[in-house]
Amino acid sequence: VPNHRLPPLVKGYPFVGSFFNVFGDPFAFMARIVAEYGDVMRVQVGPVEFCIFCHPADIEYVFRTNHRNFIKDKGTRTLLADVLGQGLVTSEGELWRRQRRLAQPAFQLDQIQKYSTVMVDYALRMLAGWRPGETRDVHADLMRLTLEIVAQTLFSASVGDQAGRVGAALEALMKYWAGPGAVVRWWKHMPTPGAVRFRRAVRDLDAIILDTVARRRAGGDVPEDLLSRFLGARDEDGSCMSDRQLRDEMITLLLAGHETTAVALTFCFYLLSQHPEAEARLAAELVEVLAGRLPTVDHLPRLRYTDWVVKEAMRLYPPVPNVGREAVADCEIGGYFVPKGAQIALVQWITQRDPRWYGEDAERFRPERWDNDLARRLPRCAYFPFADGPRVCIGNHFAMMEAVLILATVASRFRLQYAPGQTLKLLPSVTLRPRGGVRMTVHDRQPLRRPAVAPAVLGPAGSGR
Ligand code: HEM
Repeated sequence: VPNHRLPPLVKGYPFVGSFFNVFGDPFAFMARIVAEYGDVMRVQVGPVEFCIFCHPADIEYVFRTNHRNFIKDKGTRTLLADVLGQGLVTSEGELWRRQRRLAQPAFQLDQIQKYSTVMVDYALRMLAGWRPGETRDVHADLMRLTLEIVAQTLFSASVGDQAGRVGAALEALMKYWAGPGAVVRWWKHMPTPGAVRFRRAVRDLDAIILDTVARRRAGGDVPEDLLSRFLGARDEDGSCMSDRQLRDEMITLLLAGHETTAVALTFCFYLLSQHPEAEARLAAELVEVLAGRLPTVDHLPRLRYTDWVVKEAMRLYPPVPNVGREAVADCEIGGYFVPKGAQIALVQWITQRDPRWYGEDAERFRPERWDNDLARRLPRCAYFPFADGPRVCIGNHFAMMEAVLILATVASRFRLQYAPGQTLKLLPSVTLRPRGGVRMTVHDRQPLRRPAVAPAVLGPAGSGR
């Protein structure tokens, strides 16, 4: 007998469903529905209904086991595509396959290792502007830094003077997508200040990209990078990538490739400031491994605690807090019927805080939980900050290396203290970003004496100084 039992519908208000819960306090709402409904539920958000699957096996089914039955969700294909066009994040089918194949070599391990010096150099440049004792919006600094890194590594473009404009445009987009613009497409034509700012932001981003391409085409010696691969790509019939497609890929990579990493790092510094014991272990590892030198790819295997800090921060504060899909044909997931066209949400925020996989202290920031190969012991897709399967984040290794190198560079030089008088408020949008920035006071690192921490991170030579 075919199973026609739909996932249970979370009780909401007439017509709008759970709209106001989702856009009111989404975190309280998620905690409540998971406690009440378990691993599978349906949520009505205004005109759209989502099936949420929280169990790793069901998430793996969507990402990998039966991935052919799923395309990106309608929101991604329409709302996000209004800005990203048909770039790697939003495209499907043959176009996506061709473009992914074209871009992939730029993200191969041997290739991204070459980016490591750019990452550390730019981090140093950022630090050169920091003065001990001052209080800064670290999120803004990191956004600028990661934007410069992605533009330089992939497109050999210097965006120094444009970084402010891109930042302002992104902020407008993210705020817009955190409101009604996240569910109704026509909202962008409204005369509201948010929608006006949204339209201006898209125009601004377009202008910046076109300018970058024009400068490259006019320039003399052409560097070998992803942009040159795009510009040199030819179809079977010999035609090259259209300006439109080029614009879509570049804007996608610039946006997908910097905000996420900046947010991940911001949460690292925030969490470290709230957990002095973790901060002390990190500091000890940096002294032990780097001994005052700058980090390079050769240090990465030994920067284990640094790596765990990044992983743990992305577990609790996933930079992409949920991933959407749409079922192409009827199927069954987690024992429920999922009809063709159903919108599916896989929510890192929920699954990555589940005590079944992370124990009773799942909500606690504890980087050392990643010791003893936790990543391998977890069920597949119990941790999926980069998604999984064929559409896994193309920049996952890029991002991990970048985050570890920047964290190591900054934390070797400064200790960051969360400035009093603010509370961390989250803006869950396409990414999970701190609302209104994160102000931190920059302290010169004390010369480290042998800290009173677990001996595991200290080598035989002690503090290394
Ligand atoms: C901590 C940093 C990052 C996180 C958490 C992250 C997360 C994700 C996630 C969850 C997806 C899948 C979205 C979906 O399936 O709907 C994705 C896709 C993607 N990401 Fe990342 N990302 C990060 C960094 C980067 C970087 C550094 C780049 C490029 C330089 C990048 C480029 C992309 C692209 C192009 C896609 C689309 C891939 C495809 O569908 O073929 N991301 N990312």
